[in-house]
Amino acid sequence: MDVIRVEGGHSVTGTVRVEGAKNSALKLMAATIMAPGVTTLTNVPNIADVHVMGKVLKNIGARIEVVNVHELKIDTSDVDSWETPYHLVAQMRASTAVLGPLLSRFGRAVVAMPGGCNIGARKIDMHILGLEALGVEFKVDHGNIYASAPNGLVGDTVTLSFASVGATENLMMASVFAKGTTTIDNAAREPEIVDLANLLNEMGAKVRGAGSPVIEVEGVSELHPVTHEVVGDRIEAGTFLAVGALTGEPVRVTGFAPSHLGLVLKKFEQMGATVERGARECSVWRDRPLLPTDIQTLPFPGFPTDMQAQTMCLLALAKGSCIITENVFENRFMFASELSRMGADIVIEGHHAIVHGVDGFSGAQVRSPDLRGGAALVMAGLVADGVTTVSDIHHIDRGYEGFVEKLASLGAKIERATVPDEEDVEGF
Ligand code: UD1
Repeated sequence: MDVIRVEGGHSVTGTVRVEGAKNSALKLMAATIMAPGVTTLTNVPNIADVHVMGKVLKNIGARIEVVNVHELKIDTSDVDSWETPYHLVAQMRASTAVLGPLLSRFGRAVVAMPGGCNIGARKIDMHILGLEALGVEFKVDHGNIYASAPNGLVGDTVTLSFASVGATENLMMASVFAKGTTTIDNAAREPEIVDLANLLNEMGAKVRGAGSPVIEVEGVSELHPVTHEVVGDRIEAGTFLAVGALTGEPVRVTGFAPSHLGLVLKKFEQMGATVERGARECSVWRDRPLLPTDIQTLPFPGFPTDMQAQTMCLLALAKGSCIITENVFENRFMFASELSRMGADIVIEGHHAIVHGVDGFSGAQVRSPDLRGGAALVMAGLVADGVTTVSDIHHIDRGYEGFVEKLASLGAKIERATVPDEEDVEGF
């Protein structure tokens, strides 16, 4: 198995450039289904989840050419299937993002039901209810969702019971060719939603209001392929900026908009860090002790659940206690028990974590519970006493390109190693 080993206590400072956003790239790739021809996406991160979405598209007949690692030329001219099998959906739940585009292009889709997931049930009932309002009929059989719109999709008003990112995206994509106007009320407002709306509009769609709670989509008859740059990854940026707040030395991150991290950066300041914001870059450092502050995760512009673990890592070393409330996903505190193995003092009560700051972490063998939790454990290792070995790092590979290399470029003593499964993996 592959592990990441990190030795704590080394100077970590410098500049990192982030890649395009995973959560945007996956949906932009899905959206190319609706514009037959060759769409070029630039600034695409070279990560495992993008590779899975590539397989999903190839499976339905798309051709993909990779140019200089970060540019994808996706040819959807010959897409002739509307089925996404379980072995792909099981690898990545975001494969369900093809549901809307397939309905748009073919008026039908077969997508395997996503199974459970280690950060909660992650249902797709809101996607289904919203699409039903637009005239889509659903049947679930043998683990597959069969969707069809026998009379075509027709615009309507859909009010989401929660500002779900995935449901907003699927509805936006399904309504592009719908008759009349579709209104998505209580829509998610994440920057990745805006990026998707921008791509669709560049392709010829009429999407208004993305970034606000009400999105209106006026149906058009066709989309055409374009070239589009993926928005910078605010969560990758936030992770490296959290490293600056953790170690104290300046970390500068380029390639993203600090306005996409508004509340996260404010919280870092409340914790005692200094934040210097530019238009497309940001620096964070700290010359005071870490202070506790309460956090509650919420849809954008609230505090992102995808920054919860990295922030918990900081708060676990603060001078005092605080409460982190997770409102978006159940089961997103698995990271806490791994961090406790490194000396953190965290009590979980339902969707609250009570974090009592400790003086330091001690290096240990830990398992990456999920993508962000895995990154946060590596972060903890940067300041821990001794060596930390993080296993199950395929989670980290899903969403961070060159995580080890980027931290090493900042001065971290870190390596990726392959070890026999049951070996005692301590030490370099
Ligand atoms: C996306 C992001 C993920 C991020 C999350 C919230 C991608 C690939 N992933 O996930 O990194 O953490 O947004 O910002 O973009 N829910 C339902 N029914 C539904 C849909 C969602 O109950 O039909 C629930 C989910 O189980 C979850 C919550 O709503 O508890 C939020 O989900 P959602 O915003 O849809 O997140 P994703 O799109 O899955």
